[in-house]
Amino acid sequence: MQYKIALLRGDGIGPEIVDSAVRVLKAVGEKFGHEFLFTPYLIGGSAIDATGKPLPEETVAGCLASDSVLLGAVGGPKWDTLPGHLRPEKALLGIRAAMELFTNLRPAKLYPALKAECPLREDIVEKGFDIMIVRELTGGIYFGDRGYREGKYGEEAFDTECYSRMEIERIARVAFDCARKRRKKLTSIDKANVLETSRLWRKVVHEIAAEYPDVELQDMLVDNAAMQLVRNPSQFDVIVTSNMFGDILSDEASQITGSIGMLESASLGNTKRGLYEPIHGSAPDIAGQGKANPIATILSAAMMLLYSFDLADESAAIVKAVDKALEDGLRTADIARGGEALSTTQITDEIIARL
Ligand code: IPM
Ligand code: MG
Repeated sequence: MQYKIALLRGDGIGPEIVDSAVRVLKAVGEKFGHEFLFTPYLIGGSAIDATGKPLPEETVAGCLASDSVLLGAVGGPKWDTLPGHLRPEKALLGIRAAMELFTNLRPAKLYPALKAECPLREDIVEKGFDIMIVRELTGGIYFGDRGYREGKYGEEAFDTECYSRMEIERIARVAFDCARKRRKKLTSIDKANVLETSRLWRKVVHEIAAEYPDVELQDMLVDNAAMQLVRNPSQFDVIVTSNMFGDILSDEASQITGSIGMLESASLGNTKRGLYEPIHGSAPDIAGQGKANPIATILSAAMMLLYSFDLADESAAIVKAVDKALEDGLRTADIARGGEALSTTQITDEIIARL
């Protein structure tokens, strides 16, 4: 089979980690007899430098014409002072919206080989955890009305959170379906003691729950959830939450796995075409030095094989190769804790050798 993959390398460490994942995909293609055709497109700061826009039209058209999209990361200090609508981050929100990717799957699990990297207490680490965060991705405050105005105290800025019943229903169904395939426990995270959007969220999630009597549903307030994630992460199976809460909680969840450099993600909509990216950012401080951990991006490519192309064996082969490399003690700087650290290319070579 032939698969067309759009590559959005982006900024900072983006190009290095995407190139690593491409090498892994090529190796998988050779081994299993698939052809992956890669076409690069500009996004983020590098797109601003080349075209003046963070998300050029050709990029959107190219992504929509491909079978799937692999993204590195966007942003950097060079573009930090641009107005909001011209910032690199706007391109990320824009491409998610243009592709109608309302679901963001962010798995956070503790690798046995990385237990020593987990910052939590030993008895908590011993229990382990395997969480799937289902983050709503195209609604809420990141997409709401915003602006500046004159207020009681002079200049003020505002952003608004808005969720429709439809948006909550569809993400709730994704989360319930996901829980059904796992340990059948869903935690819906909101701030229903304060926010109207959260009260609608909670109401609608409970209505959808009636379609899933086999899944246990629990509500949790977001402040409590932030605490529970470090107090007892093993209590969670699937989490469903809004765009902003999911953004914040997934960073927290990543750190208890040992490193944010390990967490992959899949952004999905109603078609097979998804966008796959590490949850971490562009890390401009280490860009171009070969220090970046490419594992999150390599695992994102594995998610692409599974969710967009239904290539379960090929996907599992990548996950297994990463596991093996970690079990063999191979580490990049972020998880080496002062020990021997491999470069981005070296760890990629080692993962490919274990395919
Ligand atoms: C993420 C990032 C993005 C987000 C930013 C860069 C727009 O933090 O993917 O988690 O908020 O979604
Ligand atoms: Mg984030």
